[in-house]
Amino acid sequence: MSIEQVTVFGGSGFIGRAIVQALARQGYQIRVAVRRTELAEPVTTSGDVGQIMLMRSNIRMPQSVAVAVAGSQAVVNATGIPFQRGRQRYQSVHVDGARNIAAACKAAGVERLVHISGIGADRESGNPFIRSKGQAEQAVVAEFEQATFLRPSVVFGHDDQIFNRMAGIAAKAPFLPIVGSGKVRVQPVFVGDVSAAAAAVLAKPETAKSVFELGGPLIYTYRELAELVLRTIDRRRPIIGIPAELMKIAGFFAQQIALFGLRPPLTADQVELMCHDNVVRAGAPSLDSLGIQPTAAEVILPTYLDRFRIGGRYNQHASA
Ligand SMILES: NC(=O)c1ccc[n+]([C@@H]2O[C@H](COP(=O)([O-])OP(=O)(O)OC[C@H]3O[C@@H](n4cnc5c(N)ncnc54)[C@H](OP(=O)(O)O)[C@@H]3O)[C@@H](O)[C@H]2O)c1
Repeated sequence: MSIEQVTVFGGSGFIGRAIVQALARQGYQIRVAVRRTELAEPVTTSGDVGQIMLMRSNIRMPQSVAVAVAGSQAVVNATGIPFQRGRQRYQSVHVDGARNIAAACKAAGVERLVHISGIGADRESGNPFIRSKGQAEQAVVAEFEQATFLRPSVVFGHDDQIFNRMAGIAAKAPFLPIVGSGKVRVQPVFVGDVSAAAAAVLAKPETAKSVFELGGPLIYTYRELAELVLRTIDRRRPIIGIPAELMKIAGFFAQQIALFGLRPPLTADQVELMCHDNVVRAGAPSLDSLGIQPTAAEVILPTYLDRFRIGGRYNQHASA
């Protein structure tokens, strides 16, 4: 059976939107399953009229998941939460939600399931976020053995959290803080390459039952990333390492604004993530296994961080 319709859970998110765009370019009929359809409206313009349909679905509710999956031959799970609030827990969304999707795929006879996970997902981790990502993979395989896992490193792109946040801090604060000594390594990957990978695995049946680790062409330490951001926005700031434990306390307090419905700038779990190398394991199937040449951060960052330059986007010469 060939794939005609794909359901994308999390299609209103940063990575999900890019995946919807990539799938639309391949000509698939797409159903974007989200809790808040009003937030996903813009994504419907990524395809032809009627090609991308929105459907209300909460992955914590198995019945709404089953309805969203019915009639699709492939499903992508690009949902996730960066912090816990109310009923949105790592267990209920990452683990139980992923299991609900996988079980619905199995019951509906879906051919392909692509699950967006993350490098370092580890069900034994002491960190609840990282642990839930590992437990999610395990729960998915238990229900749908043929699932394909895409594990990106830190993802960059126009609406990313990490680079926009670093540049925003550098534009306002007298220094740019990094976690610890900044020696931890990451391999930032372009959101356009992650979405191309999702489209590529759907086109290749042989990629079922496999795990791809997605990283960019270069590995940086967090200190090197901070230097790259400062160079890109043409600002001079001292880069100051703050002990991880202090940053976690700051993250804990920052997280409290979530109680008022706001997205915290930093959480303790995110700080913990920045304490561990986040790079593609040697020999792991990656973007090149899918015929995708990874895009360098140096090429893309100037296209959206330039608004943090002194004088804004159109001032090419000022520096501070
Ligand atoms: N961004 C990165 O650098 C990065 C790196 C590695 C891995 N990842 C993983 O990639 C996935 C997507 O990340 P992202 O950055 O695109 O996150 P995002 O922008 O926060 O998007 C998350 C999506 O999940 C949906 N969602 C959350 N709870 C839901 C629920 N109960 N039912 C249905 N939908 C729900 C959200 O929609 P509503 O809230 O409107 O329902 C949104 O569409 C996550 O699993 C993340 O851990 C991200």
